Amino acid sequence: MSPFPGIRLFDLTGRTALITGGSKGLGQAMAAGLASAGADVMLVSRHGAQAGLAAAEIARDFGHRAIGFEADVTVPAQVEAMVTAAQRELGRVDILINSAGINIRGPIETLSPEQFQQVISVNLTGTWLSARAVVPLMRAAKGGRIINLASALALVGLAGRTPYCASKGAVAQMTRALALEVAADHITVNAICPGPFLTEMNLPIADTEDGRKFVVGATALKRWGRLEEIQGAAIFLASDAASYVTGSMLTVDGGWTAQ
Ligand SMILES: NC(=O)c1ccc[n+]([C@@H]2O[C@H](COP(=O)([O-])OP(=O)(O)OC[C@H]3O[C@@H](n4cnc5c(N)ncnc54)[C@H](OP(=O)(O)O)[C@@H]3O)[C@@H](O)[C@H]2O)c1
Repeated sequence: MSPFPGIRLFDLTGRTALITGGSKGLGQAMAAGLASAGADVMLVSRHGAQAGLAAAEIARDFGHRAIGFEADVTVPAQVEAMVTAAQRELGRVDILINSAGINIRGPIETLSPEQFQQVISVNLTGTWLSARAVVPLMRAAKGGRIINLASALALVGLAGRTPYCASKGAVAQMTRALALEVAADHITVNAICPGPFLTEMNLPIADTEDGRKFVVGATALKRWGRLEEIQGAAIFLASDAASYVTGSMLTVDGGWTAQ
């Protein structure tokens, strides 16, 4: 008999996922990816109507339950409400993807303390609050997957990005620490480290010298990532295929950090 029984390694049928920042960009792409593998999903952003539209598209395309929800991940009460709603609407939360994020660029002397704090609040505190809210449910269920969106900029630095690099480096370390903390309850915590993807976040640099340098100079593949190219990493980390993977940083960066 084969030592590899017929498990469908990447099948997410019957699983449920909560995706912050799911209304657009990488979050929406990952939500669609999970739905394509069989999961029911809840997409969250500060604009409920936009999250609802993105969810409706996913429900139409994949025939799974997809719901939009309005919450600001920097507000603890809204994060709690988001998780309560996911539990109520989807029955439970097997997978959390923390994709809500922002970037404020500029030389350090031009940035205000408020701008620094804003980036930290969304990218780091929001990720921490969302993880904190789902851990009790996942512990009770004796399992779960937490997937944080760090960045290639968690692993290497870039001038003009001090708040963003600080926030993403901290997300990477938080991912490792939480992975150790919850492993006994079969909860895995990993981070995806994307390179440059042409989402709304990167529109300000898309047509600039900086933008061209990113894509051609920084990546081995010399191009922007396509949205569908983030989906495999999310499906993998959410699925049985990744049952022995925790505390890891999965780069999807066109070879940026290989150099
Ligand atoms: N694109 C890239 O090249 C790249 C590279 C590395 C890492 N990343 C990371 O990947 C994640 C997704 O980025 P993206 O490129 O998809 O960005 P995006 O297209 O700008 O989408 C960001 C998402 O986050 C939501 N969001 C922002 N602030 C929020 C808040 N306070 N509460 C709840 N939702 C909030 C936005 O919706 P609302 O505005 O409606 O709230 C939107 O859904 C981020 O963590 C980003 O740092 C992106």
